[in-house]
Amino acid sequence: MTTAAARTPRESEAIVADLMMPHQANGLRQPSVFGGVIMGMVDRCAALAAMRHSGGQVTTLSIDRILFKEPIRVGELVEIRSRVVYVGRTSMAVVAQVYAENMSTGVRRHTNECWLTFVHLDENAMPAPVPPLTLETVEDRHMHDLAAKRREQALANA
Ligand SMILES: CC(C)(COP(=O)(O)OP(=O)(O)OC[C@H]1O[C@@H](n2cnc3c(N)ncnc32)[C@H](O)[C@@H]1OP(=O)(O)O)[C@@H](O)C(=O)NCCC(=O)NCCS
Repeated sequence: MTTAAARTPRESEAIVADLMMPHQANGLRQPSVFGGVIMGMVDRCAALAAMRHSGGQVTTLSIDRILFKEPIRVGELVEIRSRVVYVGRTSMAVVAQVYAENMSTGVRRHTNECWLTFVHLDENAMPAPVPPLTLETVEDRHMHDLAAKRREQALANA
């Protein structure tokens, strides 16, 4: 049993932002940012949210889906925002939202939504219990329900 206090999704929120530079582009004739760069930022940001919630070390169990609907260009500011939206006994579901901002026009776009699962680890790298999650808002409950369904499906397909 964990004795740690419950936390809300808002309390776990983490932000990672970076200006996209030429060395982060892919090899296309009209270059956009390499997908792996965004995936790395998403994993890092989501891990921070999981660390905030669990108060300790975590490892990535799964990155469920990253849909690249539109390109992100060199010179744009990429901002990732992530929150823990569901907790099991030792695992946490995290949703990361990706935004790209054109620094010349100030136009900001929501480009991706990614779902990840992390497991909290103790000092011996064994799965350890996480604090409960307190749902504050309608949005919290909505994301929690979606995460519960995704987890059910993932375990059924394992
Ligand atoms: C993450 C890891 C420690 C889990 O070990 P494990 O032996 O599977 O541990 P458990 O069986 O106790 O499962 C741990 C949690 O993952 C969940 N889980 C396991 N397989 C799952 C799956 N396919 N889908 C969803 N959840 C799953 C379990 O339900 C459990 O969550 P819960 O306690 O909230 O119910 C182990 O798989 C690992 O070390 N993986 C490598 C991680 C890694 O290298 N990541 C990339 C670098 S960070």
